Amino acid sequence: MSKPLISLIWAEDRNGLIGQNGGLPWHLPEDMAWFRQQTMGKAVLMGRKTFDSIGKPLPGRFNMVQSRGKPELPDDCHLIHCIDEALAVASDHEELVIMGGSEIYRLWLPLAERLYVTHLEHNFTGDAYFPATDRSRWKLLSRQDHQAATGYCYRFCIYNPR
Ligand SMILES: NC(=O)c1ccc[n+]([C@@H]2O[C@H](COP(=O)([O-])OP(=O)(O)OC[C@H]3O[C@@H](n4cnc5c(N)ncnc54)[C@H](OP(=O)(O)O)[C@@H]3O)[C@@H](O)[C@H]2O)c1
Repeated sequence: MSKPLISLIWAEDRNGLIGQNGGLPWHLPEDMAWFRQQTMGKAVLMGRKTFDSIGKPLPGRFNMVQSRGKPELPDDCHLIHCIDEALAVASDHEELVIMGGSEIYRLWLPLAERLYVTHLEHNFTGDAYFPATDRSRWKLLSRQDHQAATGYCYRFCIYNPR
């Protein structure tokens, strides 16, 4: 069995905030486009709560939803209970992209081999954070700087392990 590359993708504000009331704290269509571009054709795995907030599988991707229970899922979503099961189910894929939220990032972060991070240079309010991690473990591979129509700056970064 081959093992996919494990990556994490997320967007965070200056304080590592990623969520508010089960959704995102911001509206940034450019980040949605970036997310789509980075995940298209790949296997994606999300927590059951993030799946509930999206409400449907992501088109053009192999969708996996992690839960401890047996939530009702559409036929084209694969229910996953643990990391080993996820790796077996995604073994035909080159890359498995972990797409949140907080609990699922915390679980998968020790296995991460690539990070796709959108840094928003702004302080939003919310209740879900990316887990604390030693960022010096990662080296910047690429960076694109942009400015949102609403004024704040953001950047798309890709990191590999040092
Ligand atoms: N900014 C971003 O890039 C980004 C990306 C994704 C999500 N988010 C935000 O993050 C927030 C949601 O994060 P969250 O932490 O509340 O929820 P989550 O990580 O999306 O989902 C949590 C659920 O995952 C399942 N789970 C967690 N640990 C597990 C384990 N060890 N084994 C099996 N299943 C496990 C459980 O499902 P069951 O309860 O069914 O057992 C748990 O309730 C939302 O606000 C969302 O919008 C932000």
